[in-house]
Amino acid sequence: MTTVDEQHGADASAMRRALELAELGPARGVNPRVGCVVLSPAGEILAEGWHRGAGTAHAEVDALSKLAPGAARGATAVVTLEPCNHTGRTGPCAVALVEAGVARVVYAVADPGDHSSGGADRLRAAGVEVVPGVLADEVEAMLDDWLFAARRHRPRVIVKWAASLDGRAAAADGTSQWITGAGARADVHRRRSAADAIAVGTGTVLADDPSLTARDDRGHLLEAQPVPVVFGHRAVPADAAVRRHPNPPIFPTGDDLAADLEELQRRGIRSLFVEGGPTLASALLAADLVDELLVYVAPALLGGPRLAVGDLGIPTIADARRFRFAAVERLGDDVLLVAHPTTHPGGN
Ligand SMILES: NC(=O)c1ccc[n+]([C@@H]2O[C@H](COP(=O)([O-])OP(=O)(O)OC[C@H]3O[C@@H](n4cnc5c(N)ncnc54)[C@H](OP(=O)(O)O)[C@@H]3O)[C@@H](O)[C@H]2O)c1
Repeated sequence: MTTVDEQHGADASAMRRALELAELGPARGVNPRVGCVVLSPAGEILAEGWHRGAGTAHAEVDALSKLAPGAARGATAVVTLEPCNHTGRTGPCAVALVEAGVARVVYAVADPGDHSSGGADRLRAAGVEVVPGVLADEVEAMLDDWLFAARRHRPRVIVKWAASLDGRAAAADGTSQWITGAGARADVHRRRSAADAIAVGTGTVLADDPSLTARDDRGHLLEAQPVPVVFGHRAVPADAAVRRHPNPPIFPTGDDLAADLEELQRRGIRSLFVEGGPTLASALLAADLVDELLVYVAPALLGGPRLAVGDLGIPTIADARRFRFAAVERLGDDVLLVAHPTTHPGGN
């Protein structure tokens, strides 16, 4: 007889393996990374599977496909995400598990999808024992941006700017390259590379002609490149550097930022790194669509009207938009301030 503690331990250890399998899947794209381990009633691993991206088998189906018919009867399936209840490019995993005769399903995190959730209920209705929440924190951490985007129907929006001590983003003639030093710029490139997409407004494209690539300190492209997104109506010149980006650019109008962000999420973009300029950053802030601010402050003064952020429609100090500092870092001569809005402090 297995004790309750032994059962918990076996579930957690299989979930740890399922997490490793999930991490073999692609970190970007519309679908989450998911891993699955099928255990015999005696607790031995019968099969393993993971999801390789949209249009391919889900982790549960991948694992079951490695077993002979009937071999999963009475088995336990340990999956990082609640089995789906959705017929998309593949059938519902909840049904595949029931049809295979699986007796117990252990999962970490509930599926937040509008069309895919409900798998646990479907399993229970078919008499399968369901154990949710095993290693939920670890799986939440792995699926951080995907869960954020799936739950909010938009990517996590990170707004970055570089400013002088007096909060200016450019000099009187519009030049802003470079306010901060090499350390701050390298940090920006690392963060660009970690994001799914990078955004600016047409104003920045027309003023600075940025390439919107993530590069190392010798100017070579980093392996992971964000998708460039240029918000606005004005035409981006045919010879603009962004048009030579390794990923084809996306050009939303910016008329309805919430709808544009939703569309980016539908395209599989989970995190959007917004590099300006002040007009786009202000519009996102005014619409309360910013989840993280990265402010690189240089020990310099520029004076003048070119503020890092424009009007946010705040009439009086009581209406100030409040943030909490999540981190403060020294980068060479500059300082990086990371701040999260108090209304939604960065969590999922
Ligand atoms: N210090 C820094 O970190 C930093 C970073 C970037 C840029 N800059 C500087 O900023 C300056 C450019 O400033 P900018 O404010 O013109 O650039 P911007 O914010 O990149 O572009 C502004 C344009 O974005 C479009 N847009 C799209 N959606 C919008 C919305 N919902 N609300 C308002 N506008 C929207 C509009 O263009 P359409 O008319 O085409 O619709 C608007 O004119 C340059 O001097 C650049 O060097 C500084």
